[in-house]
Amino acid sequence: MIEKDFISSNDLEYPTDGEIGWNAPSNIALIKYWGKHVDQIPANPSVSFTLSTCATNTSLRFEKLPEKSSFFSFDFMFEGKPKIEFKPKIVTFLERIEKYLPFLRSYHFVIDSSNSFPHSSGIASSASGMAALGLCFLEMERKANPEMTSTYFNQKASFIARLGSGSACRSIEGSLIQWGNTPSIDGSSDLFGIPYPFEVHENFKKFQDTILLVHKGQKTVSSTVGHGLMNGHPFAQSRFVQAHQNLEALHPIFKSGDLESFIKIVESEALTLHAMMMTSQPYFILMLPNTLEIINAIWAFRNKTKIPLCFTLDAGANVHVLYPESEKDKCMQFIQDELIVFCENQHYICDRIGSGAKQFL
Ligand code: DP6
Repeated sequence: MIEKDFISSNDLEYPTDGEIGWNAPSNIALIKYWGKHVDQIPANPSVSFTLSTCATNTSLRFEKLPEKSSFFSFDFMFEGKPKIEFKPKIVTFLERIEKYLPFLRSYHFVIDSSNSFPHSSGIASSASGMAALGLCFLEMERKANPEMTSTYFNQKASFIARLGSGSACRSIEGSLIQWGNTPSIDGSSDLFGIPYPFEVHENFKKFQDTILLVHKGQKTVSSTVGHGLMNGHPFAQSRFVQAHQNLEALHPIFKSGDLESFIKIVESEALTLHAMMMTSQPYFILMLPNTLEIINAIWAFRNKTKIPLCFTLDAGANVHVLYPESEKDKCMQFIQDELIVFCENQHYICDRIGSGAKQFL
């Protein structure tokens, strides 16, 4: 699929009014997307687990306008209340996707969005939020074109979500999603995420992700700014090469279920992401002292018990603790006994690998 395959045909008959609702999950990258070109074309490939509990529910009410408007006509509600601060971000999204969904100026929309995870938990909501909203708009096209295949629907939903936020393109399907053109995966694309196409061992099928909320406030540097700092970064080119290599190295690991090798790549990816931040110009640090306390406690626990639990990090201070379901009881005991003291108000979220977005309206 190439970019022009996502432009809708002009002769579709769209419904005059109605309501649509989609729930889209968050995702956690194992190989990190860090560095991008215009419109969230990634500088390197990434792969992520789709999550289950952390998700955004978005409903979209639409009513046809008497004539096409010169601006985008919509109200935005977040958790039941009007949120005008979010409107500019949505206008930018609508401007980017209009070429592919040409009906957007012909309607008035009421968008109502809420997150399953606590407000300002420091958990990125742009991935699940943009995925859920993109799915609602694309569902309007599917109403006008019911013959659309589910493969096309998923690819276009991912393509549209990417135009809102890069990582959102990995929040449409489950459970392991790859995004970004790379020679070791036929069919990989910079334009949309695809279900990881190779064999995945049982060990990874029910992975758990306990998210330790070290800091619940706003991050000091946004992901978008961080991506931008990879332009002209002294280590950018070798980092991009490394992401391709790490992804290729994961293929036999996913197949064999080799957790020890999996951990080496996943933890190295997390630390490399933060190393890129620390070595950009301007440099910055998003980890906090408690992030490091948690990492050291995980290493000590793993050395002592040989239980294959590891960590990954987003662009923030929170820590995702990853482990197979078979080790859940022991890992949860360890987390409760030794790690939650490092969380803000001892808060954490128990999540696990999920199966992708779901329509509820
Ligand atoms: C560190 O997708 O939030 O989570 O494309 O600018 O919206 P934009 O950035 P975003 O970046 C996510 C970066 C990351 C790594 C990842 O999810 O792969």
